[in-house]
Amino acid sequence: MSKVSPETVRNLLIGLIVVLSASAATLGYFLYTTTQTLETTLATTSARITELEGTLLDTQERLAIATSTNNELENNLVAEKDRNDGFADQIDKITGTVQVLDKLSKTDKELLQKYSKVYFLNEHYVPDSLSSIDKEWLYNEAIKKQIHTKVNPFLEDMLQAALDDGVKIWIVSAYRSWDEQANLKGSYSITYGSGANTFSADQGYSEHQLGTTLDFTTEGIGGGLDGFGNTKAYQWLLNNAYKYGFVLSYPENNGYYIFEPWHWRFVGEDLAKYLDKNDFNFYDVEQRKIDEYLVSIFD
Ligand code: DAL
Ligand code: ZN
Repeated sequence: MSKVSPETVRNLLIGLIVVLSASAATLGYFLYTTTQTLETTLATTSARITELEGTLLDTQERLAIATSTNNELENNLVAEKDRNDGFADQIDKITGTVQVLDKLSKTDKELLQKYSKVYFLNEHYVPDSLSSIDKEWLYNEAIKKQIHTKVNPFLEDMLQAALDDGVKIWIVSAYRSWDEQANLKGSYSITYGSGANTFSADQGYSEHQLGTTLDFTTEGIGGGLDGFGNTKAYQWLLNNAYKYGFVLSYPENNGYYIFEPWHWRFVGEDLAKYLDKNDFNFYDVEQRKIDEYLVSIFD
């Protein structure tokens, strides 16, 4: 085996050193450039992050402002809605009041006045509208009777209800004009003198002129009025008439006329129920209180 000369070994070592040096230099350079690149990228990324952070803060701020503006708008909206609701309530109230006033202006003010020696109707007063009473309800079918048109349905309902309960109630007197009342009172006065004042109103003072008032009779008393207070018809009326808006004008011991169990006046269901509930007589209640019921008299 040939021997490697020291010269060759030296040359090989030098060569190796040169190669290693070159590699180290290349690696160093590579590391240097990579580091540079990374540093640059890091710096750029950092700057970008800072920028994004700024944008985020900005956005958060804008969001906060937008939220607060939104809240403010919402509050304004709620306040505005409340105001509108308030207006709507006011308009409803005003409309209601206008409707009530309109209804009241179209309702005859005389219908709930106290006529018995207290207040009077003039000779020209005639109810707004009169209707013929169905002959079914008349004691004497041959003598036509009239009633206030708006009272008629209440009257018919009441008389039908009585009939359904087996109680026959017939009408002997209804609307009486000023002249009719004058003639009636005149003839009573001839017979009874001043005694007529205890049971018959002067013309202008009779509830019959209103067209809302009726005198009833029933079976067993010959079509008259006397004795009506002892009939089941009277008892039925005492228990039920208020449901149809009718009240007894002259109960026992009233301050105006003799006890007239046959004489019933329409005052409207609301007022009649109020009087019944409190056990009041129409003529004992203040006119001011009675007037509160005028607007609903035909309801
Ligand atoms: N009988 C009553 C009082 C009238 O004449 O009206
Ligand atoms: Zn009467």
